[in-house]
Amino acid sequence: MANTLKTLAMLVGAAAIGVAPLALADDGPTAQMLAENCNGCHGTDGASAGPASPSIGGSNSEYFVETMKGYKEGKVPSTIMGRIAKGYSDADIEKMAGFFNGKKFVPAKQKFDQQLAKKGEKLHDKYCEKCHEDGGKIPGGGKKKGEQSAGKDKDKDEESSDEYQLLAGQWTPYLRWQMADFIAGSREMPKKMKQKVEQLREKDGDANLEAVLSFYASQQ
Ligand code: HEC
Ligand code: HEC
Repeated sequence: MANTLKTLAMLVGAAAIGVAPLALADDGPTAQMLAENCNGCHGTDGASAGPASPSIGGSNSEYFVETMKGYKEGKVPSTIMGRIAKGYSDADIEKMAGFFNGKKFVPAKQKFDQQLAKKGEKLHDKYCEKCHEDGGKIPGGGKKKGEQSAGKDKDKDEESSDEYQLLAGQWTPYLRWQMADFIAGSREMPKKMKQKVEQLREKDGDANLEAVLSFYASQQ
């Protein structure tokens, strides 16, 4: 009896590790194999070590899939990802989305201005927090914020239905480029975000934006 229980516990353990055993039953490369092609820029398990590539560990799966398809179709502007994404089928992209979602987001170790970050926190609360909740720390949105704070597993909100990536701890140069694309209109922003970004930049222009980005950088 005790042994049966032990075997069961081991089986459950193996299932919890997840992706790899499941992917074996599948055709084609495993998620792990696919993800290795991304390490060179996005780091091991999506923890990017350089400012040019965003960290993608812990990415919201829906956001990941939408963004990769957007790159593939040329709808999301990119320097590199457009070419890379074309090499993967939708099924590959789904597999990788699951793989990276299961990894931990590692905040970037980067310099920031303390004063600016303080100012940025207030601005973030006013203009961005509504969607990028908890200081921009929740990948995929805070619709379930109440439930999340009540639960233990706050970082793994698998049922989350909003589609965006977290901002807190993301590389500043990457975020700055994204904001420039959004403002120039080459990357499409959600309408409400556009309004908020316009309000944010109304008085002080990019100085306010830089403050918000410093706030994200300060969360390490
Ligand atoms: C040569 C470097 C390089 C490689 C290899 C690479 N990426 Fe990227 N990735 C980037 C850069 C740079 C960006 C920012 C968009 C751009 O300019 O192309 C990015 C952006 C992304 C984003 C968007 C993140 C966000 O926060 O919006 C995702 C998702 C992504 N890459 C997934 C992948 C996957 C999956 C692979 C492997 C199949 C991969 N990347 C391989 C450099 C790379
Ligand atoms: C109404 C909701 C909403 C508001 C308000 C909002 N955002 Fe967003 N944000 C989104 C969504 C949705 C996306 C994903 C867009 C996409 O899929 O391309 C996003 C994406 C982003 C990204 C790109 C992240 C990445 O990894 O590429 C940045 C940067 C960003 N927002 C910054 C801000 C800032 C700064 C503010 C406040 C001035 C703000 N947002 C306000 C909904 C919002």
